[in-house]
Amino acid sequence: MVRLFSCLASLVLLTVLLCGSATAAGEYNYCSKVFGDFLPCISYVGGLSNQDPTGKCCQGIRKLNGRAKQNGEAPKKICQCIEDMTYVMNLAFVSSQVASLQDKCNLNLSFPISNAMDCSKVG
Ligand SMILES: *[C@@H]1O[C@H](CO)[C@@H](O)[C@H](O)[C@H]1NC(C)=O
Repeated sequence: MVRLFSCLASLVLLTVLLCGSATAAGEYNYCSKVFGDFLPCISYVGGLSNQDPTGKCCQGIRKLNGRAKQNGEAPKKICQCIEDMTYVMNLAFVSSQVASLQDKCNLNLSFPISNAMDCSKVG
């Protein structure tokens, strides 16, 4: 729980960093929506919890899948938003948790959840 709170604190920091940077406002808004959808899954995919993903988490991933299908660039953008978030939060995904997320939520990911892949090659 302490780690989760420190994650949340990092997210606030991230928001401040992104707001203060030269990042285009549109991109910032886009990533902030991605964060909002992805946040309920952080403790699961980060291996911070051994409980099943919550309904909110599955719902968020479904929303992200919907966003990923909006246009050809969307999966790349979502990939990059998630990587930026994990970088700032110093969070490492557990790949087995990412894989089991698909089973537990009964869905297929339409975008990668990764710490350090080349998002420009996605899609
Ligand atoms: C996920 O993809 C696999 C392989 O394409 C397919 O068999 C399965 O039905 C899909 N699951 C869902 C929930 O869409």
